[in-house]
Amino acid sequence: MTEAEDALGELEALNRMAWEAVAARADRITGRRVPMPEMVGCERRDAESRFSENLPVLDHLDAALALTAQGPLAAIGERFAGVMHRLRWSQNPNYTEANSSRSFLDGYAYAGFSGPDAPLVCLVPRGGLVLLGPGVEYPGHRHEPREVYLVLTPGSEWRLDDGDWFDVDAGDLIFHDRWQVHAMRARQQPLLAFAGWIEAGDRRAIGWARDGEALPRG
Ligand SMILES: [Fe+2]
Repeated sequence: MTEAEDALGELEALNRMAWEAVAARADRITGRRVPMPEMVGCERRDAESRFSENLPVLDHLDAALALTAQGPLAAIGERFAGVMHRLRWSQNPNYTEANSSRSFLDGYAYAGFSGPDAPLVCLVPRGGLVLLGPGVEYPGHRHEPREVYLVLTPGSEWRLDDGDWFDVDAGDLIFHDRWQVHAMRARQQPLLAFAGWIEAGDRRAIGWARDGEALPRG
């Protein structure tokens, strides 16, 4: 087996481990359980991500991993830390200063594990890590695929539809239904979470809740 195949095998095992942790939990709000979706192959498509190694929020990655190591998902966090150098951090290419804010763009990043633009190339499930810097809010947004967030760090808040903000802790599972508006924010510490889409979808079709429709395709 080549080194590249070894590395992919490691990512595949870790991706499965993350989804097993998802399946082992019930959603904080509805109590529902979400098994790992069947993997569906596809051709690589990189256009859905704006890749960058210089995203300012990455200054908080080590602190987020250290927080993860103190929580209930420490074992997974340690494995994530071990493959971090194989992941590419990115942003949604349709998130710009014109439709979001500089503080958000400096405070958020996503690294895919699986998906059309991730090391494990597939249509379904899209899964990876979301990182928010301290005090950063990911404003209300929505998308067609149903989604789960497995939260790795303590001290964040979530908001679904037009409900109240609620506290979210390390180890919590949060489910977002089809087109459900969701927002999250990190309090004084960074937020790191594994996020997965249950159905196929294009990142560029995510829409800001305030617009009520999808962002323009990039
Ligand atoms: Fe989402």
